[in-house]
Amino acid sequence: MKKAIVLSTWKHGVNANKKAWEILKVNGSSLDAVEQGVMVAESDPEVTSVGYGGMPDREGNVTTDACIMDHEGNCGGVAFLKNIKNAVAVARKVMEETPHHLLVGDGALQFALKQGFTEQNMLTENAKKRWESWMDNHPQDAMFIDQHNHDTIGMIALDNHGNLSGSCTTSGLAWKYYGRVGDSPIIGAGLFVDNKYGAACATGKGESVMKMSGSFLIVELMRQGKSPQEACEIAVHRIIEGQRDPHEFQVGFLAINKKGEYGAYSLRKGFQYSINTAEREELVDCDFMFETKVEKKSG
Ligand code: GLY
Repeated sequence: MKKAIVLSTWKHGVNANKKAWEILKVNGSSLDAVEQGVMVAESDPEVTSVGYGGMPDREGNVTTDACIMDHEGNCGGVAFLKNIKNAVAVARKVMEETPHHLLVGDGALQFALKQGFTEQNMLTENAKKRWESWMDNHPQDAMFIDQHNHDTIGMIALDNHGNLSGSCTTSGLAWKYYGRVGDSPIIGAGLFVDNKYGAACATGKGESVMKMSGSFLIVELMRQGKSPQEACEIAVHRIIEGQRDPHEFQVGFLAINKKGEYGAYSLRKGFQYSINTAEREELVDCDFMFETKVEKKSG
């Protein structure tokens, strides 16, 4: 039975899903779909939280993090990568061409260049202007994530062969500290795939997702029999355990199980995800725990 499905985070997932669906609908692999899908967002200068055009750190450097995982449990990632537009494609090369799972910084760049990727300036004029304005006006406002400063693209897909894969790529939090890496390149945090049970990905404040291994937790919950929706909701509840002020940030999760059932849940109002199946192509307002949106603090 044909049951391909692809989900990805935020509005920038709409165009990314279109590309992924071109591959899935002709019985292509979920691995190719999740790689080429998120490359659309990485290459789009209008997407200011992923790849080229992403907001820089507080010193003006655009640094990117990405990972990818396939139906055989193979995975690869890059973190703190500079000057390469499609970090997810480098992550796939790490997976396929090295015995490692994660390369960072200069090592990741050196590897990418040896693989034939070309260096380019990732800081667009728009991003530079916003960084300069941030330096003038908001020097402490580093953790703000909402539908405008939307975040990571995570993508998970089931193909018509019944195989699950996922990808996750980001320029990370705007105005982060130089060297900061979030959840997105970390297998088990920003992304996890177990082809027997399901796949999950995360978006939002990476620090909060990393410390509870969010995507791994969701797949583990599906392994224990929870539906994708139940698993995402439990994970969001877990995020806020022990948090002094969960109203300060956003986290969202997506999940698909082996049957092609899916779920999505976010901490706060405002998270959207894109879904494509043979019957649907839609941007969906996600169910959430708290009504309040993340408000941008002044100063
Ligand atoms: N979720 C992306 C990050 O925190 O870097």
